[in-house]
Amino acid sequence: MKMIIDTDPGVDDALAIALACVMDEIKLIGLTTVFGNTYVEQSARNARYMLDMLKHKAPVAKGAAFALGRDSHDPSDYVHGPEGFGALTDIPQIGFDDPRSAAQFLVDAAAEHKGELVICPIGPLTNIALALELDPNFAANVKDVILMGGAYQHAGNITPHAEANIYNDAAAADAVFASDLNVTMVGLDATMQTLLTWDDFVQMGKDAPRVGGFIRDISDFYLRFYRSIGIEGGCAMHDSMAVLVAAFPERFTFENSGLQVILEGDELGRTCADPSRKKTRIAMGVDTSWAVPYVKSEIARLS
Ligand code: BDR
Ligand code: CA
Repeated sequence: MKMIIDTDPGVDDALAIALACVMDEIKLIGLTTVFGNTYVEQSARNARYMLDMLKHKAPVAKGAAFALGRDSHDPSDYVHGPEGFGALTDIPQIGFDDPRSAAQFLVDAAAEHKGELVICPIGPLTNIALALELDPNFAANVKDVILMGGAYQHAGNITPHAEANIYNDAAAADAVFASDLNVTMVGLDATMQTLLTWDDFVQMGKDAPRVGGFIRDISDFYLRFYRSIGIEGGCAMHDSMAVLVAAFPERFTFENSGLQVILEGDELGRTCADPSRKKTRIAMGVDTSWAVPYVKSEIARLS
């Protein structure tokens, strides 16, 4: 399947990008980047760095620096490190980004691969909302949007009610759920069911010293964050789960419901049912005995 990942790398984003590059089921045709875990300049640079490490030729198009209608943002440096890659800093800028904005890149790719393109947003949904604004045919041209974000029955992770990607641009997320796009939401209901341990990362480093070793090194900081909030069992591989849903939906269970996002007050960023809207497919469960071993076995195919 042809896929664009819209991303804010980000420790778990790095694993998802590596996974998408190695999986035979996926042809990655580009990365678009967004603010979120870090500033957009760093997320674009980190995306380029990952593709270079993976020897993948796909272009990177830099996107939104802020949420819709905002002119600043607070990066999640306490989760992903000062530059998005854990304790690692001064990641080099390699090569050039596509000159188009992420939204324009998405619009153009959707038109070029009409009915075939799967977009996998694993950061705030700003670029997707901007693409909807740019082109009235965008929703019809895209096959599926399979996003990591939201919490349907699960509690939030950035506030008691909201998941971080949705919270970071609630208006953009609401525009996506209100649109005609075919949306699958892979949120905390599913992503908190499979945790990766330090031993899993050590194994990735042994099996694929260059790429797996890099993922191990940046994940140390991320694991420490999980321990700091009382989660001892490991860290969630949130973003990889959206990639897995795209290729192996039969490994997941779903509910279907229209969704809206709460846009103000204490529950800002909460994703809740709205029967008046087009149904979103919501991942609720995953084959937990399969997901982690599968991801590790794919990473082991890298060098
Ligand atoms: C999501 O927020 C970010 O911190 C992660 O990269 C993931 O996309 C999890 O809530
Ligand atoms: Ca992310």
